Amino acid sequence: MQLDDLYRRVIMDHYKNPRNRGKFDADEAVTIDLNNPTCGDKISLQMKVEDGMVSDAKFIGEGCSISLSSASMMTDAVKGKTLEEALDMAEKFSGLMKGEAVEFEYEDIEALSGVNKFPARIKCATLAWNALRKGIEHTKQNG
Ligand code: FES
Ligand code: FES
Repeated sequence: MQLDDLYRRVIMDHYKNPRNRGKFDADEAVTIDLNNPTCGDKISLQMKVEDGMVSDAKFIGEGCSISLSSASMMTDAVKGKTLEEALDMAEKFSGLMKGEAVEFEYEDIEALSGVNKFPARIKCATLAWNALRKGIEHTKQNG
């Protein structure tokens, strides 16, 4: 996989120095466990939601550089966002994976744009965002 150099540096930085890696106590946060069906890699995302806003997020997981860096970026980007804003961001990310030219307030995410040419890697990059969508759905249903 050939990615632009700058993009590759951003991705490797998140992979080697993941933001928000860790766990909350189970009763403090919503926990979503997902795996990537194509490789079996896993992510466990936890998010704290207060007054309709994601106040904090953490993850642990096993996966490739694309999946783990994407989780690192996503958990950083959603902090302080409302559930609607977080969902909009997940939609935008789907657009990025379809090759749309979208911009993110949290610019590091744009480093994953080159992944859209590699279908297997799109699944890697999207894993954390699918966990986010599930976490939002779960929170909306359970208040
Ligand atoms: Fe994830 Fe190759 S490392 S598809
Ligand atoms: Fe498994 Fe990328 S190869 S998540």
